[in-house]
Amino acid sequence: MSTQSDPAAVASGDRVVIFDTTLRDGEQCPGATMTFEEKLQVADFLDEMGVDVIEAGFPIASDGDFEAVMAISKRVKRATVAGLARAGEKDIDRAGEAVKHARRGRIHTFVSTSPVHMKFKLQKTPEQVLDMVAKQCARARNWVDDVEWSAEDATRTEHDFLCRCVETAIKHGATTINIPDTVGYTVPEEYFALIAMLIARVPNADKAIFSTHCHNDLGMAVANSLAGVKAGARQIECTINGIGERAGNAALEEVVMAMRTRKDVLPFANGIDTTMLTRASKLVSAVTNFPVQYNKAIVGRNAFAHESGIHQDGMLKHQETYEIMTPESVGYGKTSLVMGKHSGRNAFRQKLKEIGFELGDNQLEDAFTRFKALADRKKHVYDEDIEALVDDNVAHAHDRMKVVALTVIAGTMGPQSATLTLDIDGQHQTVQATGNGPVDATFNSIKMLVPHEAKLLLYQVHAVTEGTDAQAEVSVRLEEDGRTVTGRGADTDTMVASAKAYVAALGKLMVKRQKTAQAQQGV
Ligand code: KIV
Ligand code: ZN
Repeated sequence: MSTQSDPAAVASGDRVVIFDTTLRDGEQCPGATMTFEEKLQVADFLDEMGVDVIEAGFPIASDGDFEAVMAISKRVKRATVAGLARAGEKDIDRAGEAVKHARRGRIHTFVSTSPVHMKFKLQKTPEQVLDMVAKQCARARNWVDDVEWSAEDATRTEHDFLCRCVETAIKHGATTINIPDTVGYTVPEEYFALIAMLIARVPNADKAIFSTHCHNDLGMAVANSLAGVKAGARQIECTINGIGERAGNAALEEVVMAMRTRKDVLPFANGIDTTMLTRASKLVSAVTNFPVQYNKAIVGRNAFAHESGIHQDGMLKHQETYEIMTPESVGYGKTSLVMGKHSGRNAFRQKLKEIGFELGDNQLEDAFTRFKALADRKKHVYDEDIEALVDDNVAHAHDRMKVVALTVIAGTMGPQSATLTLDIDGQHQTVQATGNGPVDATFNSIKMLVPHEAKLLLYQVHAVTEGTDAQAEVSVRLEEDGRTVTGRGADTDTMVASAKAYVAALGKLMVKRQKTAQAQQGV
């Protein structure tokens, strides 16, 4: 759906615009920072999956954000690309610059409207805020036809004042009106009543699309978003896996599958190809290093697992006894034994296609070589193994440092030691280090080659599939001078995966350091 189609037509129809803010609100949660390449990868995936609006970032926040929004604007084929902006002229102009190359560009501009935010955060009177609303929408409208205005902390805003703000925003060119539950405070009945009240009371409300943006502090983000749609909102703002500030945002996969599964009570349409939801979840989890909880609705690894005897018996008799949607409908494939060391390049390419990867020739060749190496070491190669391998490959394609070789001596007779060779900017360098255990020894060897003061905040290992020969997927989070980065690595050898993850995180830290230094020097 074109979000530039007549807002009035969308507002009165049953089609819900899916606005994904994984790259903006999602990326705002501590540690979820993505690299430039990862952002492009996620944007491409969202576009292909049928997301209507991709909020690609907050262009004034940093040069990196600006560049990412600009690059996403240039490459996205179908979706509208939005850039976020506060009420100031500089913010709006920066967002306008960033989205100006998009086939469909949107400026999403916001200001706080609740008494507590106006008094303490903005230190402005309601009249001053109203003036800001008029000016921010008019300025954004000079850049694009598609302007979204948000009343930050709308659910704690006085109704009469909120009506005046929304009326002003529409009068000055906003075509989408977003009513955020910024602090995750509302409940479904209240949010329904709020949206219904605005649509009924605000003059010209029918000229704009109303939108939900619900945070999950009380676990009601999805329920609140759906209540908003029932009240007349026709856009839902959400994120993959529900990531976002604090407890996160409404999860895209949940709102979409709720509308699909309960059409009887939620008779609304959207453009999402639901069979891509599982891959989207895995991709976002991989690039942000935020694990998906096992029992997460729709995309958790247990979402379609039936453990108890009674349930298994029922399932064998009829799938509908315990499944309200099929695993296939969300792209959750059964773990299948697919490939082995005798599989050829064509079979590998075909397999990649089936599980949702289209690689260029060089990347394919690289992935195939790694697949062969994996198949030599691992008896059964599952779809999940191939996904981990390709994700790992794509994530590290642009790294300046790479693990070339690692030998670890572990066991009861300490100290444990690690001999590591890293490729740093094309030069091979080798060191040996000891440590209190194999992980410590490995990380110490990295520290010898790349001295740094970063603190290790998280070290997490999980097995990609079952079995003792399963690939390990390791996440490492580092912190230095308030900058947090995460890296990941996959390998059948847990120590190699650990070294890859640590080196990847360190690489990201170096990029961040460099950018800060450049910004300080005004480069
Ligand atoms: O939660 C919020 O209020 C936001 C706005 C910027 C839309 O993220
Ligand atoms: Zn938010």
